[in-house]
Amino acid sequence: MRSKDLSGMESVLVTGATGFIGSRLVQKLIEKNYKVTTLVRPGKKVSVETDEIKGDLTDSNLEFGERSFDVVFHLASHTPLEKNTKILQKVNLEGTKNLFNAVKDKTKSIIYISGLGVYGSPETTINESHPYDPDTSFVKIRLEAQRFLEKQCKENKIDFAVVHFGDVYGSKGWFYEMLVKRLQNKSFRIPGGGKYFKGFVNVDDAVGSTIAVYEHKGFGESYIVADSLPVTFKEFVDFTADQIDAKHPGNVPNFIAKAVLGADLIKLLTTSMKASNEKISKIYKFKYPSFKEGIPAVIEELKSKNLL
Ligand SMILES: NC(=O)c1ccc[n+]([C@@H]2O[C@H](COP(=O)([O-])OP(=O)(O)OC[C@H]3O[C@@H](n4cnc5c(N)ncnc54)[C@H](OP(=O)(O)O)[C@@H]3O)[C@@H](O)[C@H]2O)c1
Repeated sequence: MRSKDLSGMESVLVTGATGFIGSRLVQKLIEKNYKVTTLVRPGKKVSVETDEIKGDLTDSNLEFGERSFDVVFHLASHTPLEKNTKILQKVNLEGTKNLFNAVKDKTKSIIYISGLGVYGSPETTINESHPYDPDTSFVKIRLEAQRFLEKQCKENKIDFAVVHFGDVYGSKGWFYEMLVKRLQNKSFRIPGGGKYFKGFVNVDDAVGSTIAVYEHKGFGESYIVADSLPVTFKEFVDFTADQIDAKHPGNVPNFIAKAVLGADLIKLLTTSMKASNEKISKIYKFKYPSFKEGIPAVIEELKSKNLL
């Protein structure tokens, strides 16, 4: 792997730029002086100024005109909250194919964002050499999209890398909407008691690591991006509750949680996962080595935005 100087005016396409992680990625890329194009669904707007292309991944005629890119960061997807497998296929798999067809003659590289769910239910601490073993439809579809990109990029001489995020927390997304707000109004319950381990990562480090993969030209590789301290979900939740002076929540049986939130989401959430970040740490220094530093920073941000 080769390190490079400052990014200059390299040209980047970001999908999912209106989302929780994508919006932070775009902000950081602009700060770093990248020229940022975004694929945005009609009616939506990115919070900062970018070259916005209106389009939907499900459109097989996506068009980027005369533009060319040094790298495409592909984040757009439905989350595991979507229970309809046909919709997941259409957006996460067919949408990825549509995107590839639209950029294959226009980009030098693609970085695909995925999650730790691809590793299934490992019994030991995993690293990137651990075999993929997806056990939910959501992740099987995501892995199919990854395999498609790997194969097509190889055939078309496009550099490719995949980044597997742990559970990403920040001032938007599930952490704020589903945890902080519900701890505040006392409606949060921990599925299955929360004794399972998770690999969390602050959104700033998720974004920073992804950019580092590009800047260090870490292609032909996969990267696990989680902080250095795997922790049980219960410990993570109780720590968050303490930061906002909320009560520690009670539990909900898995079968009830599955009925409400969907079997795939609860399976992904309640599977114990300890993942090593040794590989990504060689090219990226985490700002928040653990949730103990990362959560207080998010709480401060929420307070500064009057969201707490
Ligand atoms: N958040 C996590 O903890 C986590 C963990 C592991 C991996 N990841 C992965 O990281 C990526 C970003 O996650 P996130 O949490 O930022 O998700 P998010 O907030 O739900 O954002 C999803 C993004 O995808 C866009 N999108 C959805 N369907 C689309 C379509 N048909 N055409 C074009 N754009 C579409 C959404 O656009 P609209 O605004 O128009 O809906 C939005 O910008 C995803 O690939 C996710 O699987 C996330």
